[in-house]
Amino acid sequence: MIISVANNKGGSGKSTTCANLGAALAQAGRRVLLIDGDMQMNLSLSFFEEEEVLAFSEGSANLLGFLQGEAKAEEVIRPTRLAGLSVIPSSAKMSGLEGWMAGRRGSAQVLTKKLATIAGEYEVILIDAPPTLGQWTAAILSASDRVIIPVEAAPWGLFGLANLFDFLKNVQKKSAVSVMGVLVTKVDERKNYYRQTMETLADLPDIPVFDTVIHVDSAVEWAQDVSRTVVEYKKNSRSAKEYAALAKEVEALCR
Ligand SMILES: Nc1ncnc2c1ncn2[C@@H]1O[C@H](COP(=O)(O)OP(=O)(O)O)[C@@H](O)[C@H]1O
Ligand SMILES: [Mg+2]
Repeated sequence: MIISVANNKGGSGKSTTCANLGAALAQAGRRVLLIDGDMQMNLSLSFFEEEEVLAFSEGSANLLGFLQGEAKAEEVIRPTRLAGLSVIPSSAKMSGLEGWMAGRRGSAQVLTKKLATIAGEYEVILIDAPPTLGQWTAAILSASDRVIIPVEAAPWGLFGLANLFDFLKNVQKKSAVSVMGVLVTKVDERKNYYRQTMETLADLPDIPVFDTVIHVDSAVEWAQDVSRTVVEYKKNSRSAKEYAALAKEVEALCR
């Protein structure tokens, strides 16, 4: 199952969800590959220290090198401290990817084709998308079976979601990708945006919403500060338990 984590809104919890859902699935015994599709490299930073991430970014042993045929799968797939969990790191040079894609026939399928060569090794592949709606995000969605859409329980959290759904509809003309669910993130009980967000989402026809929600939890940031997922760093924290619950929901939907 290839699942992308996408939302054109930055700060909605895509990278955090990709890292922690991946870690929770690996802890549940799944063979998981995470792909950092964003040149901001936040997913890579969730597992590797800054210096390492910058070193991956510099050479060709990263997603860009893999897509452009300069690096082999075994050169770009990095094991993590967690058993069963590997990562293909990103590169700052991904800024040139859409320019490269524009000049090539069939580049909309570049990721789909590359994943076909390695997908057999994994039960779940999660792809962290950038906060944009361009050709590269279209290629990510098109390579996916399902997409998870994290939205922040905040006043503007749902703003722009209609654009994402229009964009997705366009991709669906040529690909079978469908929405696995909207995930409400960064819920703060002290503020009432949460209820508003849930009500607005319930009004959207045909859009599944995960039962699990992810609360604001400082443990998430503490973990990220030391290049770890909260799932391994502080497994009794509220957010770690919530990501474990999300992993169960996702596993059930993969069947
Ligand atoms: N549950 C959470 N509790 C506290 N902070 C969070 C939580 N989820 C995400 N964050 C923080 O919010 C910011 C945006 O999250 P991120 O996953 O990078 O979003 P995106 O990838 O969509 O831009 C980051 O600084 C991250 O540390
Ligand atoms: Mg991100």
